[in-house]
Amino acid sequence: MKPIRMALTKGRLEKDTLKLFEKIGIDCEPLKNKGRKLIIPLDNNKIEVILAKSPDVITYIENGVCDLGVVGRDTILEKGGSFYEISDLGFGRCKFCLATKKDSDFFKGHRKKTIATKYPNVARNYFDKQDMDVRIIKIEGSVELAPLLDLADAIVDIVETGSTLKENGLVVIKEVTDVSARLIANTASLKLRKQEIEDLVYRLEKAKEELND
Ligand code: PRP
Repeated sequence: MKPIRMALTKGRLEKDTLKLFEKIGIDCEPLKNKGRKLIIPLDNNKIEVILAKSPDVITYIENGVCDLGVVGRDTILEKGGSFYEISDLGFGRCKFCLATKKDSDFFKGHRKKTIATKYPNVARNYFDKQDMDVRIIKIEGSVELAPLLDLADAIVDIVETGSTLKENGLVVIKEVTDVSARLIANTASLKLRKQEIEDLVYRLEKAKEELND
């Protein structure tokens, strides 16, 4: 039988995803010791895993080359796409926030404000909803630098523990939305491999509840 192919987000979500896999009895050693190998068979070849950057997880699922994926809601909101969101896995919890330098009054004055972010679509949607016209600058990493360098008036970014903001003298002025890891599926796979996917999802969901207890 063809393995179920899963695309997992590497980095931040990786450890908790593996914890979930191990909880349902899947030996993740081949994944931990993968070296430079890119497609890793697990669970006696019943599953094949790819570790990918988060936007690529969506690309693989949308194009039907992977059946299931684990990706953050941040990437889902930013990239969009056509796939089925099965469930909230409960880990990778953080928030999209609007943040600025302590003591600066972001909403003061009529000048058009500049926002730095790794998530321009999320930021645009947020400010459209506020009916506020802003200029958005896309930054690839360490967005917190932008207000410190006076490149931007504020940032829209992910806040998890809040320590990056704190250590750089920034504060949250608005919470935009909650983020956590989501299990997503290719829509055709859901129909064609219904039983296998449902079984795996059932096990993952059960493990999730046990881990969260
Ligand atoms: C994210 C985010 C913040 C930080 C927030 O960046 O963009 O910089 O984590 O976490 P905290 O609230 O726990 O401090 P990431 O570590 O993914 O790296 P990057 O800035 O290089 O993109």
